[in-house]
Amino acid sequence: MQENIQQATAFLRDALGDHKARAAIILGSGFSDWISAAFIVQEISYAQIPGFSNTSVDGHPGRLYLLQIGSIQILALQGRFHFYEGHDMHAVALPIRVLRQLGILHLMLTNAAGGINTNYQTGDLMVIADHINFFGLNPLIGPNLEEYGTRFPDTSRLYHQGLRKEAIELAKEMNIVAHTGVYIYTVGPNFETPAEIRMMRLMGADAVGMSTVPEALVAHHMGITVFAISLIANPAAGTTEAILDHQDVLETLQSMQTKIQPFITQMMMQLAAM
Ligand code: HPA
Repeated sequence: MQENIQQATAFLRDALGDHKARAAIILGSGFSDWISAAFIVQEISYAQIPGFSNTSVDGHPGRLYLLQIGSIQILALQGRFHFYEGHDMHAVALPIRVLRQLGILHLMLTNAAGGINTNYQTGDLMVIADHINFFGLNPLIGPNLEEYGTRFPDTSRLYHQGLRKEAIELAKEMNIVAHTGVYIYTVGPNFETPAEIRMMRLMGADAVGMSTVPEALVAHHMGITVFAISLIANPAAGTTEAILDHQDVLETLQSMQTKIQPFITQMMMQLAAM
């Protein structure tokens, strides 16, 4: 794994040259189009990056971008690796390790999630205040890489409080309904059963998804500021009569792009200015 991190880092240092990005964003399902809000300085397919795996999920194209917004540079990863695709947890978290090696200090994670909290509507945003690693597996398992971080990291303040507050205020100004809630991470790839969702609600989860938590853990371990949002793409299983379908989820997300893009841009400016 260390070798993959080093290979990918060396390749990208060379390819990106003297970039100035200190903030990065991972664009999950339905968020890919945000790229069009920025000027593309450079675009690199994951397939070109040694040590990177390739992604296979619809809505996850698999490209790294160096972007320019005004005077600010940002790295953006369009597409991520999921455990359910057959990647191990280290491969899922590898891009985050590489981002840190490239000088990234502040990270925004985005995902689509099912709404467990019955006050949540499809199209609402949830600013992640905390998570439940229901899945149990952890990308920090294995020999601890001391140069990255400590063996037993504290996670009581994983999601940056100041950014969460700013996000809620910004969403209000932009007429976007935003909640603050708890994200529960499940392995997938099946959507949950109604019984699982009832249990997750009792556990204190507000939204459920199949990503983000491994990336957040690894980023926090390395001292990267973490800010994360979920776009509620559907009511979680059993909350309504609806049958869940990935294509429907993508279409719902697509219809929300225009509304959500300026919010993401503003938040990235905040991260880059930290
Ligand atoms: N469950 C898990 N992951 C998801 C969902 C869901 O209902 N919607 C979008 N991603």
